[in-house]
Amino acid sequence: MPGVFIKTYGCQMNERDSEAVAAQLVAKGYTLAPSEAVADVILLNTCSVRDFAEQKALNKMVNVIAETRRSRPDTVLGFMGCMAQSRGRELIDRLPDVDLVLGTQKFHRAADYLDEILAGCAEKIVDVAAEPGSEATIREHLLNGNSQKAVTAFVSIMQGCNQYCTFCIVPYARGEERSRTIPDIVAECRQLVAQGVKEITLLGQIVTSYGKRGGDASSPNSPLHPQRRGVAATSNGKSPFVQLLDAVHEIEGLERIRFTSPHPKGYGDDLIEAYARLPKLVESAHLPVQSGSDRVLKLMHRGYTRARYLGIIGKLRRARPEIGISTDIIVGFPGETEDDFEQTLSLAREVEFDQAYIFKYSPRRDTPAAEMPGQVPQKIREERNQRLLEVINEIAGRRYGALVGRQTQILVEGPSKKNPARMTGRTRCNKIVVFDPAGRDHRGRLMDVKIIRAGSFTLYGDPAIVNL
Ligand code: 5AD
Repeated sequence: MPGVFIKTYGCQMNERDSEAVAAQLVAKGYTLAPSEAVADVILLNTCSVRDFAEQKALNKMVNVIAETRRSRPDTVLGFMGCMAQSRGRELIDRLPDVDLVLGTQKFHRAADYLDEILAGCAEKIVDVAAEPGSEATIREHLLNGNSQKAVTAFVSIMQGCNQYCTFCIVPYARGEERSRTIPDIVAECRQLVAQGVKEITLLGQIVTSYGKRGGDASSPNSPLHPQRRGVAATSNGKSPFVQLLDAVHEIEGLERIRFTSPHPKGYGDDLIEAYARLPKLVESAHLPVQSGSDRVLKLMHRGYTRARYLGIIGKLRRARPEIGISTDIIVGFPGETEDDFEQTLSLAREVEFDQAYIFKYSPRRDTPAAEMPGQVPQKIREERNQRLLEVINEIAGRRYGALVGRQTQILVEGPSKKNPARMTGRTRCNKIVVFDPAGRDHRGRLMDVKIIRAGSFTLYGDPAIVNL
């Protein structure tokens, strides 16, 4: 049977989509090729959030074409995911060796289309149409295809985004918000836990909007049921997302729940209260702020102010004082002045993030910000990136350093990538801990370790004082 190699760019949603496509192909009799050099089908699952990500995948395909067309001209080549969705047929016009372009609502058709192409029934296939109900098709996991037992898993709860931040391509690449039903998601989580998964990360482009609109729910118990959509979808003051957290929390054997990414405007008191109430919900929040300036936040169409954001952080820390907080920040958004940028620096100092992902603004096609006046020169974007990075690193260094000498619980995920003789786990606050397992396989175990050293965004535990 044909061997498939999938290379993934971008976010966790993309990782999850690739995993589901791989599972689907394996179920249809395909095998997973260990490398692209021996694959019959090479798929690039793409990201379009910044131009850099698009260029990387395009360059990769150019190289793959050069390699395969010389020695293995029958190799089937495809783009899937976000850039496939936003560029469509244009990708084949530009790179005529590409056989398949599969959009973000069509992952479930991957096997059918590859069958057709491999059988010679179709020469080129481009499918980037919208498909109602596609949010419920990302379901199969590849846990059994992995030789190693999975400890953590991603579960997609919704697709798309209706926030339309002015810089962001996601609403165009992923479409309108559509949510799966609670029973469907819980069934998938239960199955994963039965297979040994201990930690589940609920995924969506804007998870706090879960169940607020769209979806094709038919169960009357679902928050998506027509009678319970919109504002009426709250029950006992709980948003659909918090209802989902409650339902997943009930699963016996599941130890930890995470989610990403939420939007600050959806961080209501019901969600803060869930942190205080649900012990499996870990002390960790990835809460993208994007800017510390109210003027820029407004231009970005973020829907909150700096004060509201700081208010949420304060409440979260009161509910869970140990909580680890990470964020995304864009520097050099059109019109961002030195004063606006300094407000971002001051916000970073005020919040004291544990981790922050900094992005230099990248104009995206069809987004309003790309046409805004006051585009910031590349040199200034780079300079601001560097200045913010220094602040973020200094704060994180202090926060990681403060954990030295403390005992903390980790969930052991597997061997360290850098040094397979060591193992890595994660604290509940989402910090990576590396330790020497002293020859034992601790994978999947929750254990207490004592932190003896802090490196750059990594902690080290001492094997001698590991609690066995
Ligand atoms: N330019 C730079 N960064 C962007 N992001 C989204 N769109 C852009 C863009 N056009 C960043 C945001 C988002 C993260 C996933 O990517 O910070 O939270």
